[in-house]
Amino acid sequence: MKYFIGNWKMFGVPTSINILNKINSFRSKDKNRNNYRVIITPPYTLLESFAKYFRNKKIMIGSQNCYQKDKFSSNTAAVSPYMIKNLGAKYTLLGHSDNRAEGDTDLILKNKVKFALKNNLKVIYCIGENKSQKKNNKTFSILKMQLNKVLEKGFNKNNIIVAYEPIWSIGTGKIPNPKDLLMTTTYIKKILTKIFRKNSPAVLYGGSVDENNVGVFRQIKQIDGFLIGGASKSSKKFIDIIKNYYR
Ligand code: 13P
Repeated sequence: MKYFIGNWKMFGVPTSINILNKINSFRSKDKNRNNYRVIITPPYTLLESFAKYFRNKKIMIGSQNCYQKDKFSSNTAAVSPYMIKNLGAKYTLLGHSDNRAEGDTDLILKNKVKFALKNNLKVIYCIGENKSQKKNNKTFSILKMQLNKVLEKGFNKNNIIVAYEPIWSIGTGKIPNPKDLLMTTTYIKKILTKIFRKNSPAVLYGGSVDENNVGVFRQIKQIDGFLIGGASKSSKKFIDIIKNYYR
């Protein structure tokens, strides 16, 4: 099973549902539809309406983050996994570099993952090195730390997806070369297999994926799908990514 996940970040108003409608109609006719899953993470403001609208359709909805506590608390503007689950969302992204930059530490992220799983949300956990870490050959040690400090054996691996998103690639048009990416995703799966003592959860790639470069990733079979930012805001680009992947 492959994943095509669209992270809308700070984008979208209620009428933006038209974008998803087009993706949904494409998917419902696509001969490859049973080979992949489409998940979209709109902003909190659209979670409820989108999750309701797509409840019996084939697009799944997730949040882009959640608070580090379980249910209710006195934290202004915070949204808990319990609240997200109750809106009908099935997934949550956690650990996106945007949120790490705003203060999400490994300890906070561990709590977020724990409470998200407790509330039956599936977690898409993002990891990735920045430009200087890459330059200084720190990529593997950074990834290892981001995995080991946040994920633990007791977590249900069937409800976890890991998204490898090198920070230097997000929104820049730069993508890793296939050889590096093969090595890095192999390494991530090795660490995950150690943590979970069995098979690794799915590992996705994210960072400047678009309809023109998706073919490059097809040769790396162990990549289980993509986390797509900019190109997920256009139904045409998102559909073309899927079409070109299966071409
Ligand atoms: P871009 O696809 O715009 O590079 O964003 C990737 C991303 O951050 C998805 O979470």
